[in-house]
Amino acid sequence: MQRDADEASSLNMAFFRSVTLSDLTPAISGDGVLLRPAQMSDCSAWIRLREESREFLTPWEPTWPADDLTRASFRRRIRRYAEDQRSDVAYAFFIFRKSDNVLVGGLTLANIRRGCAQAGSLGYWMGAAYARQGHMTAAVNALLPFAFDTLKLHRVEAACIPANAGSIRLLEKTGFTREGFARQYLCIDGIWQDHLLYAKLEGDR
Ligand SMILES: CC(C)(COP(=O)(O)OP(=O)(O)OC[C@H]1O[C@@H](n2cnc3c(N)ncnc32)[C@H](O)[C@@H]1OP(=O)(O)O)[C@@H](O)C(=O)NCCC(=O)NCCS
Repeated sequence: MQRDADEASSLNMAFFRSVTLSDLTPAISGDGVLLRPAQMSDCSAWIRLREESREFLTPWEPTWPADDLTRASFRRRIRRYAEDQRSDVAYAFFIFRKSDNVLVGGLTLANIRRGCAQAGSLGYWMGAAYARQGHMTAAVNALLPFAFDTLKLHRVEAACIPANAGSIRLLEKTGFTREGFARQYLCIDGIWQDHLLYAKLEGDR
């Protein structure tokens, strides 16, 4: 009897070990892009793309930890994404160009609030070499049905620095409405910076 229970338990453990994030959240197809959860095999491509895009991205992002572009840090990142997804706190996706399966950027639906809010915050980045080619527009347009129909969110929020013309245009193009202005809202590139607040509601579609 005990042996049966032990076997069942170890089978169970093996099952959970073999279930990856990609099994839990299927890939999302968009116009020329594919969104899927990050996996360890993306490590080299991610490090290369972020390194090549450092100057392009760092003015608009929280300060990168010193060890950010290392394998160990990427492994922790993947673990955090998995935990956040399992607990319905955040859903992180990498964006691949469909034509050649190259990693081009990422976007995350984070800080999911359930209860009477049913809201989440959208964040995104595009590799410098792939910017202004419509990839993030396609990725956001593909993610929104997942947010509203699959996750059943009522509201997706986004915030950006007033000087970020690309981000503002992206949000307006994908149907977000400017709702406000928050003083020193986020610490970006080491400075507490004012942000424009945007949102798209389920009913805005
Ligand atoms: C913002 C960002 C994600 C947009 O990604 P992208 O793949 O370049 O976006 P798209 O190609 O889909 O472009 C969306 C719109 O923004 C416009 N746009 C993009 N970059 C722009 C820029 N630097 N200045 C002005 N407009 C810009 C595009 O022309 C397009 O509008 P259009 O169709 O009317 O021409 C990308 O520029 C980026 O990663 N920037 C640095 C990091 C960052 O800003 N992160 C977000 C912080 S809130």
